[in-house]
Amino acid sequence: MDFETRAIHTGQEPDPATGAATVPIYQTSTFVQEAVGEHKGYDYSRVSNPTRTALQICLASLEGAEHGIAFSSGLGATTTVMHLVNPGERVVCVNDVYGGVYRMFSQVYGPKGYEFDFVPGAEIPERIDERTRLVWLETPTNPLLNLVDIQAAANAAHAVGALLVVDNTFATPYLQRPFELGADVVLHSTTKYLGGHSDLIGGFLATNDPTVAERLYFLQKSLGAVPGPFDSWLVLRGLKTLAVRMQKHCDNARAIAEFLDGHPKVETVLYPGLASHPGHELAARQMSDFGGMISFLAESEEEAVAICGRTKIWWLAESLGGVESLIEHPARMTHASTADAPFAAPGNLVRLSVGIESADDLIADLEAALVRSAATAGT
Ligand SMILES: Cc1ncc(COP(=O)(O)O)c(C=O)c1O
Repeated sequence: MDFETRAIHTGQEPDPATGAATVPIYQTSTFVQEAVGEHKGYDYSRVSNPTRTALQICLASLEGAEHGIAFSSGLGATTTVMHLVNPGERVVCVNDVYGGVYRMFSQVYGPKGYEFDFVPGAEIPERIDERTRLVWLETPTNPLLNLVDIQAAANAAHAVGALLVVDNTFATPYLQRPFELGADVVLHSTTKYLGGHSDLIGGFLATNDPTVAERLYFLQKSLGAVPGPFDSWLVLRGLKTLAVRMQKHCDNARAIAEFLDGHPKVETVLYPGLASHPGHELAARQMSDFGGMISFLAESEEEAVAICGRTKIWWLAESLGGVESLIEHPARMTHASTADAPFAAPGNLVRLSVGIESADDLIADLEAALVRSAATAGT
């Protein structure tokens, strides 16, 4: 079955008890047993829950994975993966990683003796050594939208027996399938495009490695960062429209990137779909389209902050991937926790999460904010 069909049907048979067309929200913590140890496959909802199972089966299938394990947040999934490595072992991580992941690695696991090397994406293969146990990358990266070669990182990681983890949150499996390029584990913040409506926090891990899967299932129930049934259901519902939403996100982003590219108040547009983007060719090779995230450099930090405060349709908010368009200032918002890192988000950077409203309305709103910010700067 094709992607769009699996998004609606896989793991989601009509409910055998009632014929309900959507998977019920099994809002229960426990399951009554017929006799001691005799039950219908479920005993306690931290261990497993039928709504969560449906999500795990469906999303694993969309990623092209045998195993899917759902979590209460993207960071819950991240901390669970970190239990695959031990203090003293080395993790090579792309340098402009999501700020919350950088904060976790540098301020939680670093002080416990885990060793991190934050390196530019292009240098990842050469920086992997015999002591490396985990390689961590995002592509496109957040917020600078750099591209990282998944296949090259996978080859280098496997040469020393390390695992490659790819955070596929920005691209989603609709645009990029890291397993086809050699990834061992794929991570998602389902909070973003997969949920798609800015109404939940969730995370996900997928893998085709049975040993890793067994350990992750064990860690899921043992560490306990699990999603509730309602949040699992919301992600499952979001997946049904993922394909059509992603197409519109990409079409809108393309139009907006082209508008910004020629604008006199914009220094540089960072969007992998533009031929001028340094990662354009790689993006064209490993993604089927270029996604809904755009960053751009304004003329100054003051201008960037002013632009963020002036849009009306673009709401000023953290997060991304919802149907509504969001604008934010990474250096003071999502990436404030990387302020002391050598790869801190530039002060004049603005990040856009392009929604699925009318592209014309979004462009008009941005144009007004750019012009007004220029007028303010002159007074
Ligand atoms: C690329 C990426 N990975 C992981 C996360 C963390 O996910 P969550 O906020 O669901 O914990 C985020 C959050 O913004 C993100 O953008």
